[in-house]
Amino acid sequence: MPIPSIIAIDGPAASGKSTLGRRLADSLSYLFFDTGVMYRAVTWGSLQHGLEISDEAAVTSLAETAQIDVRPPSKEDGRACDVLLDGVDITWETRRADVEANVSPVSAYRDVRKALASQQRRIGLRGRVVMVGRDIGTVVLPEADLKIYLDASAPERASRRYKEILQRGGQADYDQVLAGVRSRDEIDSNRAFSPLRAAEDAVIIDSDKLSAEEVFAKVEALCR
Ligand code: CDP
Repeated sequence: MPIPSIIAIDGPAASGKSTLGRRLADSLSYLFFDTGVMYRAVTWGSLQHGLEISDEAAVTSLAETAQIDVRPPSKEDGRACDVLLDGVDITWETRRADVEANVSPVSAYRDVRKALASQQRRIGLRGRVVMVGRDIGTVVLPEADLKIYLDASAPERASRRYKEILQRGGQADYDQVLAGVRSRDEIDSNRAFSPLRAAEDAVIIDSDKLSAEEVFAKVEALCR
């Protein structure tokens, strides 16, 4: 069997999709594309321009007109990629708590999704890509050669995200991180357009009791 060219990884917040996707893309010399950064960029831009997040028309117009660029990392500061909005490097801004708190409502808007998903699909169809998100295997690239749905319990995912924030030198409260993860799960899974769910042909991996290394080994074995 040939190595899959289009690989889709979906799953809930902080399930380890980016860690897995990045590693897999490195090992295959594929492009790693984390679609979450695009939704985060639109959210950051909306907050920056003082838009009400509940103002669907204004947020959608920003998503349709803003120039979002996702490029290979220009710095070795732990980033997986550079994220630029209208030419400005906002990579770490997209990780801010206020972005995290507002990104799920923004991502639920139909025309925001339409604008971003068409760009993602265009890039994904070139192949040799590992694309990570919520709806990659179901909506963006349903023809993907390999679909992984990476899951873990909410407390485990919150604990990973909590450690990640501390490692970056940030401050966090575990209970707040857990509440944030649960709230995003709720919105992402119940929205009307492209809700988070496993594609019928996805391989589901529960990573609760697996290390990042073990998850990678499982998926690599599926590829080769
Ligand atoms: O890294 P983490 O899993 O916490 O989040 P992310 O992948 O950066 O995605 C941030 C948010 O963007 C998610 O909670 C979703 O609301 C949204 N998203 C989406 O709707 N569709 C995607 N393909 C990717 C992200």
